[in-house]
Amino acid sequence: MNNSVINVAIDGPAGAGKSTVSRAAAKSIGFIYVDTGALYRAVGVNALRMGIDTKDKAAVAESLKDISVDLVFENGEQKVLLNGENVSVEIRTPPASMAASDVSAVPEVRAFLFDLQRDIAARNNCVMDGRDIGTVVLPDAKVKIFLTASPEERAMRRYKELIEKGTQVEYKDVLEELIQRDYNDSHREIAPLKPAQDSVMLDTTGMSLEESVNEIIRIIKEKM
Ligand code: DC
Repeated sequence: MNNSVINVAIDGPAGAGKSTVSRAAAKSIGFIYVDTGALYRAVGVNALRMGIDTKDKAAVAESLKDISVDLVFENGEQKVLLNGENVSVEIRTPPASMAASDVSAVPEVRAFLFDLQRDIAARNNCVMDGRDIGTVVLPDAKVKIFLTASPEERAMRRYKELIEKGTQVEYKDVLEELIQRDYNDSHREIAPLKPAQDSVMLDTTGMSLEESVNEIIRIIKEKM
C-alpha cells in the first residue's frame, strides 16, 4: 500500500447525488473519481443478458465464472468493461439498477469486486463512491462522507436525470423503485448500507448541486 495515496470514501443511498458531487469534487482536487456502483451494475447486466433470475443467488454466483469486469480511466472519465465491452450506457437503465441491487446482495459478487476496488484505491488518489466504501472496502480512508437526502427528493432527481436522457418513466415508479432499492441495500446481510462510525453525515435535501459540491469540497479539505 502506497501510504502517500489519499482516499476519499463517499457512501449513501441511491439518488443522493453521490456520483455527481463525487465527480465534481474529485475534479476540483485533482483526484480520479471511482463509481463502484458501475461494477455491480455490470454484473447485473451480465446476469440479465444470460437470462438469469437476479434474485437466484446461486445462479448469480455461478455467472461470475466466465466474466471479467474492469474499470478504465480515460481523461479522468471512468468506463466499465464487461468482458472487454464498454457497457457504460447499458448499465444505467432501470432494469440494470434493480439487477445491480439484487446481485450486490450475493457474497460471491462482493468478494469478486473487492480486490479491484482496493487495487485502484491503493494506486490512486481517488474519490470512491458506493455503499460500503467507508465501512468495508476502504476502512482506513482519510475522509469518509455519508451523503443522503429525503426519498422524495432523491426520486425527483433520478426522475429528471432519466427524462433528460430520453428514458420514459413515471415519477411514482422511480420513487417506488428507489424505496425498494433502499430497503434491499440496507437490509442485506453482507456489507449493508450504513454510515461508518467515523463518517461525516451530509443531508443534501433542499441543497442545490453547487451547494452540495461546495460542502463536500469543504469537508474534504478540512479533513486533509
Ligand atoms: O450507486 P448505484 O445506484 O450505481 O449502485 C447500484 C447498486 O449497486 C445499488 O443498488 C447497490 C449496489 N452497490 C453496492 O452494493 N455497493 C457499492 N459499493 C456500490 C453499489
